[in-house]
Amino acid sequence: MNKLIKLVFLLLAVTTLQAETKTDQAVGSQLPDSIRSLLIEEMQAINEGMAKILTGLVGADYALVAQQAQAIHDSFIMAQKITDEQRQVLKQTLPAAFIEKDKAFHQLSAQLAEAARAGNTEQQLQLYQSMQAACVACHQQHATDRFPNFLK
Ligand code: HEC
Repeated sequence: MNKLIKLVFLLLAVTTLQAETKTDQAVGSQLPDSIRSLLIEEMQAINEGMAKILTGLVGADYALVAQQAQAIHDSFIMAQKITDEQRQVLKQTLPAAFIEKDKAFHQLSAQLAEAARAGNTEQQLQLYQSMQAACVACHQQHATDRFPNFLK
């Protein structure tokens, strides 16, 4: 085979490989610092929100649960007040698998806010658990820069 053709095939193979790994890689170190710090800020807010929700759940303060779950929902990173330029960078950097998980997670928080407004205890507990599972699932796959223990 002609050397040039071989080279083209090799390049294609490498590009395909990169495209595949993009779906399950850690995203933190891929992001520019300004956007990574927004993500970290959002995560810290979510973390605090989850703690407050637990306080609400164990004390049947469902107004608190609804308010905090709604706040988590509204913090959706892609919907935050970021510049168009940052939004473009996010779209190019974040793998589809990450965006799907983020969407699913934020949907759960909307459902939890709804269950809390309806005063449905059982459903709130189930949704809270599903949200915790969603944190772990995303971190396992996409946050190993920050949580390398998942790689052990
Ligand atoms: C869709 C993906 C995704 C979901 C869902 C998610 N996280 Fe994260 N989280 C990340 C990523 C990515 C990082 C690491 C960012 C980095 O590398 O700097 C992170 C980092 C964090 C951090 C560390 C922040 C710091 O100070 O460095 C905390 C705490 C955290 N997440 C809490 C949570 C909690 C609690 C939940 C669920 C209620 C959750 N996250 C759900 C993607 C996610």
